[in-house]
Amino acid sequence: MEKIEGSYQEWDNIWDKNIEGGQKRQIFCQFTRHTPKTIYEFWQRCYFEDLLELIKGKNYTKFLELGAGKGTTSMYLSDEGIEDITMVDLSDSGFKLATENCKREGVTPPKMLIANCEKTGLADEAYDCIYNIGLLEHFENPKPTLQETFRLLKPGGMVFMPIVPAQPFLHSIRARLKYNPVSIPKYYIKTLLGINKKRNENNTMIRTQNDEHFYLKICKEIGFDKLKCIPYNPYWSVTSETSPMYQKSLNAYIAHHEKTKQKENYPLLQTKKGTELCLLLYGVK
Ligand SMILES: C[S@@+](CC[C@H](N)C(=O)[O-])C[C@H]1O[C@@H](n2cnc3c(N)ncnc32)[C@H](O)[C@@H]1O
Repeated sequence: MEKIEGSYQEWDNIWDKNIEGGQKRQIFCQFTRHTPKTIYEFWQRCYFEDLLELIKGKNYTKFLELGAGKGTTSMYLSDEGIEDITMVDLSDSGFKLATENCKREGVTPPKMLIANCEKTGLADEAYDCIYNIGLLEHFENPKPTLQETFRLLKPGGMVFMPIVPAQPFLHSIRARLKYNPVSIPKYYIKTLLGINKKRNENNTMIRTQNDEHFYLKICKEIGFDKLKCIPYNPYWSVTSETSPMYQKSLNAYIAHHEKTKQKENYPLLQTKKGTELCLLLYGVK
C-alpha cells in the first residue's frame, strides 16, 4: 500500500472514528487538569510542562502548532491564559475534536487553519514559538516543514518538537524487561508470527526511524544552528489498558516524574540514549 507523506489521511481516519464511534476519551482527549488517568494524558501533560518551562520569562505572545490534530498542547497553552495561538492541520476532523474538547473542558479554542505545514501561507517571522507533538516522524523528508518553521519563526523564537520514531525491536524489549517482563513472551510470539508487523502494514501511515543526526543535519542546512536533538521520554507504554498493571505502572511513572521536578533540570523528560521513546528537537532560532 502506498505510504502517504505526513500521513494526514490516515490521521483523518483516526480522528473521524471518534466522531462516528462516540467518545473514546483515552485517545481523543488527552487534556486534563487532574491526575492523568491514561499514559496519553500523562505524556501530553509532561510535554506541555517542559514547553512551559522552556519559554518561561521569554514574553512570547504568538504561538503556532503545526500538524496540530486535536491540539492537546495548544489546549494546555490556552488554558494557561495564552491568547494568540494558531493550530494548522490538513485534516479538519482533528479540528472538530479540538472544538468539542475545548467546549467540554471550558478552554478558549485556538484559531484553526486548514493548511499544509510545508507551505502555510502565513507571514514571515510572525511567531514566537512553533511546536508540534508527533509530526516530523511522519515525513520521509521533514525538510520542507522545518524550512517553513524557520521562515515563520521570529529570531529568538523557540522550536519545540517531540518526535516519536519507530522503535528498534531491541529497545522495546529492553523497556519491557525493565518495566513489565511478564509481557515479553506474548510480545515475542506476536512479533515472530508477524502479527505486529502485519498490523503496521495495514495502514498507510509513515513512521520513520531517523536519529538525532538526521534532524540536526537538516536544521543546520536550513540555518537553525542552535537547535538540540536529545533522547526524550523514558516512560514506555508496556502494558495494555486492560491489564491490572496499567494503573500501577502509570502511578509509578507519575511519582518518578514528580521526583525529577526537584532537580529542576528541564526538559524533565530528557533521558539516557537507548532508554528513549522519543527525540526532542528544541531550541532558539
Ligand atoms: C500525531 S498527529 C498530532 C496530534 C496532536 N499532537 C494532538 O495532540 O492531537 C499529527 C497531525 O499532523 C497532521 N499532518 C500530517 N501531515 C500534514 C501536513 N502536510 N500539513 C499539516 N498537517 C499535517 C495530521 O493530520 C495529524 O493531525
